[in-house]
Amino acid sequence: MELTIETKLALNDGHLIPQLGLGVWQARAGASCEAAVLAALEAGYRLIDTAAMYGNEESVGGAIRKSGIPREKIFVTTKLWNSDHGNPQRALDTSLRKLKLDYVDLYLIHYPVRERRQSWRALEALHAEGKARSIGVSNFTIRHLTELLAQTKTVPAVNQVEFHPYLYQRDLLDFCAGKGIVIEAYSPLTKGARMKDPKLVAVAKKYSTGEPRPALSRSRLPLVDRLFPRSESKSTAQILIRWALQRGLMVIPKSANRTRIFENADVFNPRRICVSLTGLMKTSEPAGIRRMRSERKLSRKNSVTDNGATT
Ligand SMILES: NC(=O)c1ccc[n+]([C@@H]2O[C@H](COP(=O)([O-])OP(=O)(O)OC[C@H]3O[C@@H](n4cnc5c(N)ncnc54)[C@H](OP(=O)(O)O)[C@@H]3O)[C@@H](O)[C@H]2O)c1
Repeated sequence: MELTIETKLALNDGHLIPQLGLGVWQARAGASCEAAVLAALEAGYRLIDTAAMYGNEESVGGAIRKSGIPREKIFVTTKLWNSDHGNPQRALDTSLRKLKLDYVDLYLIHYPVRERRQSWRALEALHAEGKARSIGVSNFTIRHLTELLAQTKTVPAVNQVEFHPYLYQRDLLDFCAGKGIVIEAYSPLTKGARMKDPKLVAVAKKYSTGEPRPALSRSRLPLVDRLFPRSESKSTAQILIRWALQRGLMVIPKSANRTRIFENADVFNPRRICVSLTGLMKTSEPAGIRRMRSERKLSRKNSVTDNGATT
């Protein structure tokens, strides 16, 4: 299937989710966040990923209204924060009031805190009421998902987790695929940490104009290189986003910079490019260890930032 900025994935509840979206964690509330969302909508993004914890739902809602794009054309995600599990209904009402929306397209449990099972039942009710068109989870491991699935008929539509070649959670990906749960890849740009990795830079160069062709006869070049000659330069950010899209992941890069917002959406040409990053991949073992550590941290203290740091 050809990827375009309009490509959507089917969720297990019948709704569709755009495959590319803008994340707004750390986009400063007010003019900066509003400008970022407006730029993204102008660039063709149709999904905005916010959260109660990000403190910028008002700005996201304001930009959506200013854009003039009909509400139903934009997919809005927000999340239930750890300290709000006592009353998810009230938490979503607060988010909706800030966003000035009647419903969100996706409501996620932000972290698998202790009260997650009761909260999931509350999310099911919000889904039935229509205040959340789809419901899902975030930062859930296979263990959390297995436990949840044993106790509910509603399979989460989405599990939003950190996912990029340096944190390739293959077991989780396979598990979610088997249950019909879409993986939403957060921090797809590694929060900027690996963007200068020489191996990644080399891949970006490989797909950029001006790079000398490999010393192979044309007939021995990979088919993709013969059919789609390189015509422009590619950044490491574009390579990471394209890699995630090709794997059928939903992906939400964050930028508050207009130029980079446009750059991150310019990943659909050539349409059939196939980025291989196998040399960079770190499989799920380190992720498992990291998750275990963060789970322990979570059970000690219920409140964490998206950075993993305790608040
Ligand atoms: N559910 C969760 O627990 C969770 C956790 C983390 C993130 N998320 C979601 O996922 C989204 C994305 O993840 P993230 O914010 O952690 O990190 P990210 O998207 O991996 O990286 C964002 C960083 O990369 C920079 N950047 C963006 N585009 C760039 C480009 N083309 N070239 C160079 N630098 C670029 C940004 O700076 P500028 O803004 O200056 O461009 C920012 O510093 C978040 O915004 C949030 O919506 C969810």
